[in-house]
Amino acid sequence: MPIPEAFRRVKLMRLLEPSVSVGLAGFFLLITCCFFFYFDYTPFGFLAQSQTLALPPVSVPERRDNSVDEFLGEKECDFFQGKWVWDESYPLYDSKDCNFLDDGFRCSENGRHDSFYTKWRWQPKHCNLPRFNATMMLEKLRNKRLVFAGDSIGRNQWESFLCMLSSVVTNKKSIYEVNGNPITKHKGFLVFKFRDFNCSVEYYRAPFLVLQSRPPAGAARNIRTTLKVDKMDWNSLKWRDAHVLVLNTGHWWNHEKTIRGGCYFQQGMEVKMEMKVEDAYRKSMETVLNWIQDNVNLNKSQVFFRTYAPVHFRSGDWRSGGSCHLETLPELNMSLVPNDNWSQFKIGNSLLSSHKNSTELVKLKILNITEMTAQRKDGHSSIYYLGPNGGTAALHRQDCSHWCLPGVPDTWNELLYAMLMKHEGFS
Ligand SMILES: *[C@@H]1O[C@H](CO)[C@@H](O)[C@H](O)[C@H]1NC(C)=O
Ligand SMILES: *[C@@H]1O[C@H](CO)[C@@H](O)[C@H](O)[C@H]1NC(C)=O
Ligand SMILES: *[C@@H]1O[C@H](CO)[C@@H](O)[C@H](O)[C@H]1NC(C)=O
Ligand SMILES: *[C@@H]1O[C@H](CO)[C@@H](O)[C@H](O)[C@H]1NC(C)=O
Ligand SMILES: *[C@@H]1O[C@H](CO)[C@@H](O)[C@H](O)[C@H]1NC(C)=O
Ligand SMILES: *[C@@H]1O[C@H](CO)[C@@H](O)[C@H](O)[C@H]1NC(C)=O
Ligand SMILES: *[C@@H]1O[C@H](CO)[C@@H](O)[C@H](O)[C@H]1NC(C)=O
Repeated sequence: MPIPEAFRRVKLMRLLEPSVSVGLAGFFLLITCCFFFYFDYTPFGFLAQSQTLALPPVSVPERRDNSVDEFLGEKECDFFQGKWVWDESYPLYDSKDCNFLDDGFRCSENGRHDSFYTKWRWQPKHCNLPRFNATMMLEKLRNKRLVFAGDSIGRNQWESFLCMLSSVVTNKKSIYEVNGNPITKHKGFLVFKFRDFNCSVEYYRAPFLVLQSRPPAGAARNIRTTLKVDKMDWNSLKWRDAHVLVLNTGHWWNHEKTIRGGCYFQQGMEVKMEMKVEDAYRKSMETVLNWIQDNVNLNKSQVFFRTYAPVHFRSGDWRSGGSCHLETLPELNMSLVPNDNWSQFKIGNSLLSSHKNSTELVKLKILNITEMTAQRKDGHSSIYYLGPNGGTAALHRQDCSHWCLPGVPDTWNELLYAMLMKHEGFS
């Protein structure tokens, strides 16, 4: 054991004093991490270690629970500026109790032993968030539709939301998919109804938000599909009237997931062989924003755009052995992610910011989670995305873009909750 017991104690106590210095605690733990690494301990040895550390020998300071009323009385503040603090009262649910999760997100059931990543709460700098109250959320959603549309990270967030809501529903049979479809991947959409509240929480797969379909007649052989950068996904007709709509896109806007697979960009009737991914992304984001402005009644629907959620592949990507399975702590003092030049983020961000001036789009809300999420390299599925019987994945095939649940997307949903509560007339 390279680390003296006393040192461990100090580190642990620091960890449990969120207001004092979580940053410092993180730093100490990182050192611990390095020690293990240095002495060539297996990652699993370390994980077993961290599990014992997660049981605190000292009492945890009571968390100040902010009720919704208190929250509403607080002054306006930027929820997205803040820090992650250790909070023993988390997570908000246990994956074992939630039927609405893909196996790929059930990290602890798939063999992940450390649970630190479930215990961080987001603390805005200038205000407190209300504690998530699923009963209140369901009451607010009575007779309403809440729709997530976007890529699989959006699906990650949707499943998190289903778990957060269903935690207070005792009769789980009263929650069902309206077409009887199971939660499995690659369905175009899934609509879960909470019968006693007559509300539905829906997911539509639309990784680009704009339309991907057959190329025009007479197109070259190597063009298998085209992305119509000026047309919305067909399903947008179904999103349009949702009471709450949460959009996202980002992860598919790269060469790999478009041109390399024979998917080119199309504008009007013309396939633009030379159009760059970044330009296609920019045009598509404009299409999305114009659609919101022209087709969504923002007096009736609340529309959120969730910003890009950074990936954390250390040296490489999912195909070239990029990894994150040794990460058990957030990077509390950083602002940028290595191995990610943030082009998707920058383009999306500049467009979203410039549209704030438009009279209608002023009502569009931004779930601006990029920076806070960038710090959470510890939250990914890594090698724990195979089902409970699949064992851990090969070290060179890691998933450092999706998130374990419970985990980081729960926080995005707490922010969504806070913003919905803050919205006047949403009842
Ligand atoms: C959650 O909201 C419900 C309904 O508004 C309320 O009755 C309950 O007391 C709240 N729970 C907590 C823990 O605040
Ligand atoms: C149930 O909710 C839908 C909207 O999702 C609404 O159109 C319908 O009127 C509601 N039914 C009742 C009985 O309130
Ligand atoms: C939304 O409300 C504003 C102000 O009440 C009104 O001017 C505008 O016409 C409404 N828009 C729609 C699409 O109903
Ligand atoms: C965090 O980063 C800032 C700016 O890079 C630096 O000034 C500060 O000392 C760092 N804090 C810690 C605890 O490392
Ligand atoms: C960064 O962006 C450039 C184009 O601006 C692209 O060629 C490169 O592959 C990107 N790098 C990563 C790691 O995404
Ligand atoms: C999101 O937050 C970052 C950092 O606080 C800020 O630079 C950016 O402009 C914000 N983006 C939007 C669209 O509000
Ligand atoms: C919004 O409009 C104002 C005045 O017309 C302008 O000064 C500002 O730069 C605009 N902001 C953005 C983000 O485009």
